[in-house]
Amino acid sequence: MGPFPTTRTSAPKQKPADDALAFGKVMTDHMFLMNYEEGKGWHNPRIEPYGPLSLDPATSVLHYGQAIFDGLKAFRGDDGQIRLFRADRHAERFNRSARIMCMPELPVDIIRASFDALVGLDADWVPRKPGTSLYLRPTIIATDVMLGVHPAHSLLYFLILSPVGSYYKEGVKPVRILASDTHVRAVRGGTGEAKTAANYAQSLAGQQDAARAGYTQVLYLDGVHRKYLDEVGTMNIMVRIGDEVITPPLAGTILDGVTRASALQLMRDWGLAVSERPITIDEVMEAGRRGTLREMWGTGTAAVVSPVGTLGYKGEDILINNGETGEITQRLYDAITGIQYGRTNDPHGWTSVVPVAA
Ligand code: COI
Repeated sequence: MGPFPTTRTSAPKQKPADDALAFGKVMTDHMFLMNYEEGKGWHNPRIEPYGPLSLDPATSVLHYGQAIFDGLKAFRGDDGQIRLFRADRHAERFNRSARIMCMPELPVDIIRASFDALVGLDADWVPRKPGTSLYLRPTIIATDVMLGVHPAHSLLYFLILSPVGSYYKEGVKPVRILASDTHVRAVRGGTGEAKTAANYAQSLAGQQDAARAGYTQVLYLDGVHRKYLDEVGTMNIMVRIGDEVITPPLAGTILDGVTRASALQLMRDWGLAVSERPITIDEVMEAGRRGTLREMWGTGTAAVVSPVGTLGYKGEDILINNGETGEITQRLYDAITGIQYGRTNDPHGWTSVVPVAA
């Protein structure tokens, strides 16, 4: 795959200082684009200077939200090499989201080649400070120009890049999470498993309520019984009760998180007792009251491994591990970032080195 036709920018932007990086506020100099037409398939892959897309106001994605995305990161290692973390798994998930949202899949080798080509070209944008990275945002939008509701016949794939620091303003400090008894994220048979724009749009109201009540994020409970833990919306959730680590199973309502899968693999490698099973909020709160809820953390590409210091539910707050980062949480954070930055060996072959353009 590649090399792709490339138009380089004539006006490179000023790069932000690594210290000033938040999440997703600055984009790099270039973007990757490719079109799909029914009958013709995916065609016209190219790299262009980063800039606005021009869309007819009747473009279907603007009305009905037929859109998918994914998110992965490139890391500058201590050895100077740039590594992508689990790019294949992200590409496969992107295609699973495409199937759920009635969009044509993109061959994984093209997705992978677009990652390498764009990161290679904008390699100078991969920040250097520990904890920072370059976030890749592959996206597909429906570009039919018409107001009927139907799966699109034409689509646009684009990939943009953003140098990022930590997702939460707390950094890697423990966050406050509110288990919502009012807002629901997904139900089986819906789109909860897909990384689709709509899931994030519908999370805003709950997020706003949580923020007003002094919490960082919402922990969603299942939409039917309103008692089983689902996910946080930007993170999968894990709890440690006694010596068991528990995380909700992949049952159609939660995202198949890449960091989730990586954390599960590492904990199994370490011989820990790990269960993917339904767990109720009552079980977690009760463990919190008894003192057996030893740790709770979220996993996500943007959030990495994020300790939960306080869990709120129905007016009660449980302080977890004295509001401090727990032992397994820290061990997972260190192990995953160690692999990502090439500081430790990578027994499962999760990283791939990006060839850098001259
Ligand atoms: C990620 O972790 O990459 C996400 O997509 C979560 C959020 C930034 C939408």
